[in-house]
Amino acid sequence: MSDLDFAHSVIRGLSNTPRSLDCRYIYDDHGSRLFELICEQPEYYLTRVERAILLDAADEIARLTGSAALIEFGSGNSTKTQILLNAYAHRFGGVRYIPVDISDSILEQAESELAKTAPLATVDSFHGSYEDAFHLLHSFSPLVFLFLGSNVGNLDAVEATEFWWKISSSLNPGDFCLLGVDTNEDTDALHAAYNDAAGYSAEFTKNIFARINRDLGASIDVDTIKHVARYSPDHNRVEIFGKFTTAQQIHIESLDHRVTIEEDELIMTEISRKFRIDEVQPYLKGFGLESRQVFTNPERTFAVMLLARV
Ligand code: AVI
Repeated sequence: MSDLDFAHSVIRGLSNTPRSLDCRYIYDDHGSRLFELICEQPEYYLTRVERAILLDAADEIARLTGSAALIEFGSGNSTKTQILLNAYAHRFGGVRYIPVDISDSILEQAESELAKTAPLATVDSFHGSYEDAFHLLHSFSPLVFLFLGSNVGNLDAVEATEFWWKISSSLNPGDFCLLGVDTNEDTDALHAAYNDAAGYSAEFTKNIFARINRDLGASIDVDTIKHVARYSPDHNRVEIFGKFTTAQQIHIESLDHRVTIEEDELIMTEISRKFRIDEVQPYLKGFGLESRQVFTNPERTFAVMLLARV
């Protein structure tokens, strides 16, 4: 993804009504580091709960899938995945792992950590977007496609349909998918998770505007932008925005394009959809992905679903 792709994406998003930005561009090196910090916050239960589920379920998952390569989209620092890698490595004497991420620095960091924490894993990182990586799936069967952390929640309904169509047509019968989904519907818990007291969620939202300045030569006054994150029960999703508290012009230098943002205007930077298992199962079945087992925490606020490509 070049600066030109970014510039086009920003202009497209700012021309939408209401205005929005593509959340993948939050994850430059700084944004990826901020996301790691979000995951460590006490309010952001997703990482902690998914990790606990994986600690409990990893051996059973390895037993159910048999020996396979693990390919993970949006792998980040791979900290939770290390639990799976060790379960597979111990059961099968080794495991091949292909993490895919749009941040080069986070992949490098993950590789050097995994050399210590999962020494029996053979790691072949792939730097790129999901679109760049679909073709990889063909070459690694038998495989388990990992999509953890409720990353799927950042895709809207149209993007998700396209995504699952591509995944399902890239997997062979007998391959598996391990999907982590946030199933929490508690408004207070969700509000806290996306508005942590330390302020990392706010910094994360602002990072896309800071990146527009850094990479596209704009001069947005980022300090005047407020982070707004609220749960919409109607859409069962958290909606995240940058709220401009003063009117500003965004000038994308490379394409000499100007957009005026009004005072109090909200620019949507992310959605984070939440899920009901009994809706996800039939939806994914429509893509040839059949639920084999669902692992949850006792409070059922998060689920890790093992699905087989049939
Ligand atoms: C990466 N993704 C699953 C996170 C989420 O919870 O939707 C991104 C995030 N944005 C703000 N906080 C976390």
